[in-house]
Amino acid sequence: MLTRQDTEAGLRRRMLGLLTGAWTTQAIRTAVELGLVDALADGVRPARDAAERIAADPGATERLLLFLAGLGVVEPLPDGYALTPLGALLRTGIPGSARQLALLYGDEFHRSWHELPYAVRTGQEGFAKVFGEPAFDYMTERPDMAERFAGAMAFGDVFFESLTAAHDFRGVRSVLDVGGGDGALLASLLTQCRWLRGVVVDQPHVSELCGTRMSEAGVADRFAFVGADFFTDPLPPGCDVHVLSRILHDWDDDRCVALLSACADALAPGGVVLVVERPLPEEPHGSQDGTVDLATAWDLHMLVNTSSGRERTPREYERLFVRAGLEPAGRATLPLDMEVLAARPVAATGEAGGEE
Ligand SMILES: C[S@@+](CC[C@H](N)C(=O)[O-])C[C@H]1O[C@@H](n2cnc3c(N)ncnc32)[C@H](O)[C@@H]1O
Repeated sequence: MLTRQDTEAGLRRRMLGLLTGAWTTQAIRTAVELGLVDALADGVRPARDAAERIAADPGATERLLLFLAGLGVVEPLPDGYALTPLGALLRTGIPGSARQLALLYGDEFHRSWHELPYAVRTGQEGFAKVFGEPAFDYMTERPDMAERFAGAMAFGDVFFESLTAAHDFRGVRSVLDVGGGDGALLASLLTQCRWLRGVVVDQPHVSELCGTRMSEAGVADRFAFVGADFFTDPLPPGCDVHVLSRILHDWDDDRCVALLSACADALAPGGVVLVVERPLPEEPHGSQDGTVDLATAWDLHMLVNTSSGRERTPREYERLFVRAGLEPAGRATLPLDMEVLAARPVAATGEAGGEE
């Protein structure tokens, strides 16, 4: 049975765990940034040897390795340290690497989160307070951050492949990926559905990244990139399916409605809009173990790092559809707590694929 002191000590231990969360981010970011992760990529290595590889202090490197061992990122073995399967996700150059995520969340997004008190007090974006402009504007002039951002988004991409299981693309001829970023989602669709053609609309500065991705996937001949501002430029007309993956959560309701209305206008007759987001639970719920569900965590991240973004419940997405002249047309779950929410123009007739 727990004594009063045990309970008190347990609470204090939990609080220490919560309040040192930022140390975790910085330890992982440092292991990636200094090349320690990659130094262990080819097998077990003593701390001194790993430190020499990255030109770092041997004692300090071992202390970092011990912290990383506590996180389960590396494993201490009799002859040195090895990456665990979790730590191996951080290696450079592997598909879906967490490397860019670690660098972005440990640097720019760490600095913007420091402005959470400002964001909560004012409802304004912490990122712009630190960096002088919203993140999407800031990145247009900084290809290094744009690449890190694309890489960070790519870490969560495991749900892209499942879109074809969640929505039937048979009978669909063309897909417009609105804000398609580096084209990873469209490349996955075009690879799986050899009959499809696709267009990415995004800011001009991601054109090169996107083109490279399509060439690497061997689908460049069925793809086009349109550099545009999706709020002020017209969307290319006539595609059967519009995908908006992780787009609406960047914007306030009025902007979302404007974008969805533009989709409704540009869709081919009988077309469908697929919104891919991580919905908030309809009812808020607490947690006993100190873990926050991903959607609730990212809602606060959106507060800090976008000018007006937020996560929404499925019902809130459906209200946006209705305001934009669309009607909900089914939902399906995807990995990593993501969902696809389909909508069609209200008076639509005919079909271009449908939920299974
Ligand atoms: C959060 S990312 C999502 C990327 C991709 N859809 C995915 O799921 O990985 C948002 C994308 O919207 C693009 N974007 C932001 N504002 C835009 C605008 N005004 N016009 C066009 N694209 C924009 C960004 O460049 C970025 O690629």
